[in-house]
Amino acid sequence: MRRAVGRATYEAAPNIALIKYWGDRDAELVLPNNSSLSVTLDRMRTRTTVSFEPGLPQDTLQLNGRRASGQPLEDVVELLDVIRARAGIRDRAAVRSSNNFPTASGLASSASGFAALAGAGARAAGLALSGRALSQLARLGSGSACRSVYGGFVEWRAGRRPDGRDCYARPLYPADHWPELVDRVAIVRDAPVKRVRSALAMQSTVSTSPQYPGRLAELPRRAARMRRAIGARDAETLFELVIEECDSFRLVCETTDPPLDYLTGTSRRLLDGVRAANASAGRPIAAYTHDAGAHVHIFTTRGDLARLRRALDRVPGVERWLTLSPGGGGRLVRAAPYGAGPGAP
Ligand code: PMV
Repeated sequence: MRRAVGRATYEAAPNIALIKYWGDRDAELVLPNNSSLSVTLDRMRTRTTVSFEPGLPQDTLQLNGRRASGQPLEDVVELLDVIRARAGIRDRAAVRSSNNFPTASGLASSASGFAALAGAGARAAGLALSGRALSQLARLGSGSACRSVYGGFVEWRAGRRPDGRDCYARPLYPADHWPELVDRVAIVRDAPVKRVRSALAMQSTVSTSPQYPGRLAELPRRAARMRRAIGARDAETLFELVIEECDSFRLVCETTDPPLDYLTGTSRRLLDGVRAANASAGRPIAAYTHDAGAHVHIFTTRGDLARLRRALDRVPGVERWLTLSPGGGGRLVRAAPYGAGPGAP
């Protein structure tokens, strides 16, 4: 057995999917049925330090300064076990993770968390992984995390191989590709705190929604058109496609048995508000999208931001608005061998 090299700190940001990952061809290896596409966001970061320590009896997890146990700890241990097996080490780890945004807000998608854990854990265990290999490792923690390894516009290729070797994220365009594009995020006040884990919810959609096969069939064309619209910075086409995709995602959720309803009254008022703003402008000035939660991301351009704000800022039930842009990918903050003195992470 080789000894663990020590500690590393890695930072990653959440991403919002424009084409959603929803359904696996292999749930164990987290191999999806369809390729997905996302934007990594700026300003919000998860920073995670993994420290492999000889003699530590078990893995520990601190989330935002508090000792965590139960499911969050089990999920972390599972990914650490993969890392240990690959690195040929046995040491247990102390993991400290914090978000610079409210964790309970529902914006703390598992994406930034598992991308940061994979980045810190791999480096602390002495593994030198390529971006592709790191995305594949993060994917095992939470599918969408594989996209947070990269900044800007990112594609997660579903691949076909049963072993998942052709399933990974890759960067399409960097964060500064389209400076005009903004994501106004509405944090809604009535969002429930507890919800079914996405990994289980999507399995239920795959096995019960009569709309799911139709969605899968239409996705390759939508994704190809979306990639072209992003490449050409064609906001109107992108906004139409983002709405179409979000509606398709919501349809398969609502036709799942039992139905999955992630939206609240406030979320629905926001979706209606975007539709009304586009109708009154006579062109798509914005697009809404949401994940398996109630907060709503609204994409628009800087040129139409004031108009969008006039249309939506008074929608009741919004606790807070954030204005975000595409942001950078995951990055190593520090690394040090075990036992390094003060100043080490
Ligand atoms: O990565 P997970 O297992 O949390 O699933 C993410 C599911 C969605 O956020 C709804 C879609 C996506 O592609 O991010």
